[in-house]
Amino acid sequence: DDRRLTAPDILARKGGVPIAMLTSYHAHTARLADQHCDSILVGDSLGMVMHGLETTVPVTLDMMILQGLAVMRGSKRALVVVDMPFGSYEASKEQAFHAAARILKETGCGAIKLEGGVRMAETIRFLVERGIPVMGHVGLTPQSINTLGSFRAQGRDPADWAPIEADARAVAEAGAFSVVLEAIAEPLAAKITKDVPIPTIGIGASATCDGQVLVLEDMLGLSPRVPKFVKRYADLGPSIERAVAAYAEEVRSRTFPGPENVYPVKKAP
Ligand code: KIV
Ligand code: NA
Repeated sequence: DDRRLTAPDILARKGGVPIAMLTSYHAHTARLADQHCDSILVGDSLGMVMHGLETTVPVTLDMMILQGLAVMRGSKRALVVVDMPFGSYEASKEQAFHAAARILKETGCGAIKLEGGVRMAETIRFLVERGIPVMGHVGLTPQSINTLGSFRAQGRDPADWAPIEADARAVAEAGAFSVVLEAIAEPLAAKITKDVPIPTIGIGASATCDGQVLVLEDMLGLSPRVPKFVKRYADLGPSIERAVAAYAEEVRSRTFPGPENVYPVKKAP
């Protein structure tokens, strides 16, 4: 069975084999992620990773759609989830529907993700009732950096747990098919995972979650600074730099291109 996974397929994985998710923004990495992961997130982290921005705040809907299309072309089995960027959905549920419908129609992806719990519940319900599968995102919500002031782990003091739990519950009750828990202390992530009926996808939220997501470039060792919760599965930065240095050196010494890299004439002139 090689059909593409759907939001209901992911929902059905609650409490089962953990869901493996990675970000991708382009066709070639999508093809690799697609071979092993259940879901691919076209995250607005592309603002930092692809464009060198400081935060996700400047990312636009057009940027998300362009990269969502690339990831759809590069994948065939994973559920592709595209982030709604800051400013495209917070003003009203109608604004959110308009933007989310554009993402679904123009990329062919299977779901969108948006940040916020209680405050976004009405919008999530509006989208889901109208045919748009929604992945929630609570805990640390990077699009709110300008009101938060800094990126900090959430729920390290049990006195702060109640609003975060309420956010996760609100997202589930509104009909989301899963929810990202970002930078949440382990016992709180475990409690939320036990309490909500939808899969929790952790990033910096412990192995108690129903699945995990990481930014691909972070786990490959390509990002200059990464949070504590990132495990580096490869260290591609230095090997890419070695390749670039070798290339530049061979260009300067005319070692590259060699005979195997040039087109010979068919008949001697
Ligand atoms: O944009 C992103 O990559 C994300 C994940 C880190 C969850 O939202
Ligand atoms: Na994001």
